[in-house]
Amino acid sequence: MATLAAQVTAPSPVNAERWRFERDAVDRLPKIRARDVAHIPGKMGLPFVGIVPEALLDPLAFAERMYERHGPVYKFYGRGNWNVQLIGAEANELVLFDRTGSFSAYGGWGPLVAPFFPGALLVKDGQDHRDSRRILGEAFRQDKLGGYRAIFADDIDRAVTSWEAGTVDVYEEVKKLTLSIAASTFLGMSLEQGGANAVRLYSHMMGALLAVVRSPWLSPVAARGFLSKARLEGLMKGLIRQKRASLGDDIFSRVCQLRDDQGRQLPHEEIIDSIIFLLAAAHDTLASAFTSVAVFLATEPRWADWLREELDEVRFDNPADAATAPLPRQDMFFKEAIRLNAPAPIVWRRTVRDVQIYGYRIPAGTITGVNPLLTHRIPTLWEDPRSFNPLRFTAEAEAARHKFAFAPFGGGIHKCLGLHFSMQQARIFMTRLLRCKSIEIDAPRGISWYNWPNCRPRHRITGRFSAGPRQK
Ligand code: HEM
Repeated sequence: MATLAAQVTAPSPVNAERWRFERDAVDRLPKIRARDVAHIPGKMGLPFVGIVPEALLDPLAFAERMYERHGPVYKFYGRGNWNVQLIGAEANELVLFDRTGSFSAYGGWGPLVAPFFPGALLVKDGQDHRDSRRILGEAFRQDKLGGYRAIFADDIDRAVTSWEAGTVDVYEEVKKLTLSIAASTFLGMSLEQGGANAVRLYSHMMGALLAVVRSPWLSPVAARGFLSKARLEGLMKGLIRQKRASLGDDIFSRVCQLRDDQGRQLPHEEIIDSIIFLLAAAHDTLASAFTSVAVFLATEPRWADWLREELDEVRFDNPADAATAPLPRQDMFFKEAIRLNAPAPIVWRRTVRDVQIYGYRIPAGTITGVNPLLTHRIPTLWEDPRSFNPLRFTAEAEAARHKFAFAPFGGGIHKCLGLHFSMQQARIFMTRLLRCKSIEIDAPRGISWYNWPNCRPRHRITGRFSAGPRQK
């Protein structure tokens, strides 16, 4: 087991060379002690675990309490570290846009992500990040998305058609759908053709990433996760030659064909880390967003009818065309769904120098989070923030608001690479659901959302998606 853990956590020699400079500097930053952040209001909680038990009980309610009590800058202690949260549109802009190069994504996400994906874009900073993003961004250019659309439109249609046969657990079924989209669009395999094995290995790996105890020596979940990651890497290594030779429409094939400025293909390790991280970045966030969409379509019938009106005016034969058809109301509905239920609730960084915000000094070395989930609900930015109202996203309303008040996909240099990919899938998903005769939700324990690590229903919600022509 010792050899396995070392093998899967060590960066490749090529990447290690490129990362060393940036990462060493961040790792050498001083650990923040209580006296360094004594001037910032907040809470310590229990020894070592800090506020973690309280925050895990209800992450959104915890953040709301802290914000009400302490304002837009507050600290908390958790698992041996002091963290500072910065709330609001200005904080989002300062941290995400990072004009002064004061925030390290590696320093913020590294403890969670780097042991599993040392070469992932999200844990790169500076020039290394810019280079990798330019190369990987090629696979996500608008003109490349057309190739993926037909693949995921087919997955969506098959899934929703199967839901029409009876009552389904909405979140579980949506997760299955997004896994099957991941297998087909990312790996170029259907679940039947070997994608299921890759997806199983991936799911075990994610179990370890999110486990409270992540040592493979102490936790069977972590041990299985590390082993699954090694197997998944082996499986992908075997596929790279084949993918390099193919002109497939899947993202794995595209990434295998990418070249850097000198015309060199990416090293195997970089391809594997990138693809596995893309799966992770895409799957849970999309499962969260699609679940919110399905539930809001059922619980907000007035707005669902408003979408149907728009859909009735637009003609297209191919379901994939919904992604590019003139359906602005669908974008507004989707944005409102992920405003209330931000799939990625907190974005993490570490300050690499002292920073000033809202009258506070945040010392260098501080683990810092901006919180889109909470910022999307601040009454000074959003009128009646708890109500569902897609009209918040008309072009005029968006222009009148601070650009960083709405940041479900982050912003600035690390802004989500899958933004257009997600919006297009959401269009096809919504269009397919709106073609059901009716959508009904049953939630015996009420609809409440749990917001960590991604927003999802706290209790089981079942749905009935009835087939047949809609009654007008
Ligand atoms: C509704 C769905 C999604 C949401 C809400 C979402 C949210 C985010 C957020 C907030 C970030 C910024 C993290 C940061 O600044 O630290 C991010 C980054 C990223 N996302 Fe997404 N994401 C979604 C779907 C996807 C999909 C489908 C993909 C891939 C196809 C993807 C790939 C990425 C990548 C590669 C990054 C890192 C970019 C970088 O570091 O330069 N995401 N996402």
